[in-house]
Amino acid sequence: MASHLTIAIDGPAGAGKSTVAKTVARRLGLLYVDTGAMYRAAAYLAVKYGVPTDDESAIVDLLNRHPLSFERRSDDTLQILVDGVPVQDELRTPEVSSVVSPLSAHPRVRTELTRIQRQLSEHQGVVMDGRDIGTVVLPNAALKVFLTASLAERAARRAQELRAKGHEVRLSDLQRAIDERDAQDASRHVAPLRPAPDARILDSTGKPVEAVVQEILEWAGEVRGVE
Ligand code: DC
Repeated sequence: MASHLTIAIDGPAGAGKSTVAKTVARRLGLLYVDTGAMYRAAAYLAVKYGVPTDDESAIVDLLNRHPLSFERRSDDTLQILVDGVPVQDELRTPEVSSVVSPLSAHPRVRTELTRIQRQLSEHQGVVMDGRDIGTVVLPNAALKVFLTASLAERAARRAQELRAKGHEVRLSDLQRAIDERDAQDASRHVAPLRPAPDARILDSTGKPVEAVVQEILEWAGEVRGVE
């Protein structure tokens, strides 16, 4: 029988949430849901249709007219489709990255995406990563992890990712951009980036991915034992 274990992984940009969450999900046979990718898909839609990201009603309308759709891939990750077309690299461009944070501050955009995220976890176990999963989206998650790393390390990881995809980046620019985005995410009114009171804080600075994954798997084993 499929497990209905729910694991929330929150934290700032570049902390390694998606790599870690994806691996944990795979090992436990749970669906991995990247909620940042949903906010990015909304930002991508806005860029594609030239809708200003500060116009909340226009963004909500856009999402109603072009609802995001999803497919579970064979590796237990979720493929997002925009206008019926699978999107991936389109969501990670510097342009989308620069508008996603202000867009994600709109309460009605958050309400819509939160509804979808909760629905996805209703009938299946999930590992969901984002900023407000433990605080807002899945407040009853069996395990909540707040994954952090130093700003320097987070910027270096993002630079490596972007360079591997052929983008030219300067480390100092990236560090500033990440720092700004975190400050915006942490200071917004609705669902700010912060650990849930019952989250376990995990600092991944200097730790290999496998060590971080192992720690979370151990915690998952503990919470499963008491469920
Ligand atoms: O994890 P990411 O960098 O792909 O997230 C992109 C943006 O989306 C980030 O700036 C904050 C926002 N976000 C959010 O507000 N709430 C979430 N649950 C996930 C992401």
